[in-house]
Amino acid sequence: MKFQTLDNCIGTVLASDITDDNNRLILKSGIVLTEKIINRLRNFGIYCIGVEDPISQDIDVTQPVSNKTMIEAASIYTNQNSIDVDKAFSIAEKLVDEITCNNSAMSNGLQIIKVYDENTSLHSINVAILAIMFGYNLGLNITKLNNLAVGGLLHDIGKTKVPIEILNKTDKLTPEEFEEIKKHPQYGWDILSEDILMPATIKAIVYQHHENWDGTGYPRHLENYNVYELAAIVHICDVFDALISKRSYKSAFKYSDTIQYIQSQSGKMFSPYYTKYFFKFVPIFHTGTDVILSNNEKAIVVKNNLGDMTRPTVRLYNNMEEINLTQREDLSIIS
Ligand SMILES: [Fe+2]
Repeated sequence: MKFQTLDNCIGTVLASDITDDNNRLILKSGIVLTEKIINRLRNFGIYCIGVEDPISQDIDVTQPVSNKTMIEAASIYTNQNSIDVDKAFSIAEKLVDEITCNNSAMSNGLQIIKVYDENTSLHSINVAILAIMFGYNLGLNITKLNNLAVGGLLHDIGKTKVPIEILNKTDKLTPEEFEEIKKHPQYGWDILSEDILMPATIKAIVYQHHENWDGTGYPRHLENYNVYELAAIVHICDVFDALISKRSYKSAFKYSDTIQYIQSQSGKMFSPYYTKYFFKFVPIFHTGTDVILSNNEKAIVVKNNLGDMTRPTVRLYNNMEEINLTQREDLSIIS
């Protein structure tokens, strides 16, 4: 089965049943996908599906998070001005449960990276999933994982207080507009502080998710270990997802450029510890997705390799040869 975005699915055959958030069948496997069907899936909040494909029949593309939970998670963000904070707590637990209880889904990697764009809510879900995967492999306990998930879902809640014209602006921001954007961690802290029962850990993630290891971040220019550990984890996941995704003001970075940029920020934006382990632990490629190698060959991801997630095992379209990229330093994934 090949795992791909809805953009490239017309004429392909659906490989597994799709259900909605009430477990009702939306589409049965075996159906040939038309533009009308694909639009219907988009309306349900589904962006990635498995399709039949001869080269990838034996590849397991189980997703770390079910479509049902993804749709539920998207419903936290009811509109541009408000976020259902209480619901974020219950969804966070579901995300942690699903991601940590299914080892094969975890090793299959991220299902949504590069797919969602122009959408703060879906970016936040991506960040939460990345952070849970990273935190789990770092050995964090369940309480911290749940906090990390809530923090990931809510990290940009302060943007609901930033004028929409600034958030949606596609031209370069003026210095004044940029200063306004930079207030969103403080706005987030203020919103969450209205609830006296809000855990300080969640508020700290939201408040500190733009602080850099070298003190050049904002709003308080915290340095090194003064940045709360869960905020530092959300920070690196946030930047990774922002780079790899398409936005109104930029195209998506290639994988190779994103990896190189994150690594170059070790000891600058990010702690050397988290930078070192991010690509060892976080499965940034989903099995069953197409990639382009540095020799321009087209391949499909067969299996992630824990210890170096930038170098999965891939299968060449050209001759079906399988290559474990951890054993081929001369080759890498470009995009
Ligand atoms: Fe932010």
